[in-house]
Amino acid sequence: MTPEKMAQLHSNSEANHRIWHAREFAQILPLKGIYAECHQHGFALARVIDSEAELLLLVTHKMKQNTGLATNCLLKIEQKLVKNGARKLSLEVSESNKAAIQIYKKLNYKKISVRKSYSRDKNGKFEDAVVMQKDLLLI
Ligand SMILES: CC(C)(COP(=O)(O)OP(=O)(O)OC[C@H]1O[C@@H](n2cnc3c(N)ncnc32)[C@H](O)[C@@H]1OP(=O)(O)O)[C@@H](O)C(=O)NCCC(=O)NCCS
Repeated sequence: MTPEKMAQLHSNSEANHRIWHAREFAQILPLKGIYAECHQHGFALARVIDSEAELLLLVTHKMKQNTGLATNCLLKIEQKLVKNGARKLSLEVSESNKAAIQIYKKLNYKKISVRKSYSRDKNGKFEDAVVMQKDLLLI
């Protein structure tokens, strides 16, 4: 998937956080340890450092949401990350992002901490972020 298409999907997901520019995707995609799982209408993006992975983005086009696409992308990228040495996958999610939190809970991510006033919504307002983690060896 091209950086431009990823930026377009991110924008069309109507995310309540800052939308990445195509040039940010272009800069990060070639880097060592960066993995993407792409679908026509969405994608997951993650980084692996040693045995620890971090989910950077999970995105579905607004018109295709609630059809299981993000769940599927996340399950697939988890497998890719394990093949590339990851043992744990962590992520941060805004407390108000109910759809994303529902997916992470469903896929056995556990809340490990809360970062107060950590994430900024698209209007610049701060809100708490939940840090969640999954042991990928248990999948
Ligand atoms: C979060 C996001 C990726 C989910 O994508 P999706 O393809 O719709 O996800 P799925 O269809 O796999 O699953 C959505 C789940 O959320 C649930 N859901 C949707 N809206 C909800 C709400 N307001 N409250 C609680 N659960 C909700 C659905 O019922 C579904 O759960 P289920 O499978 O148990 O029924 C998508 O909404 C998105 O792109 N949001 C903007 C970007 C974003 O915030 N990404 C996450 C952080 S990077």
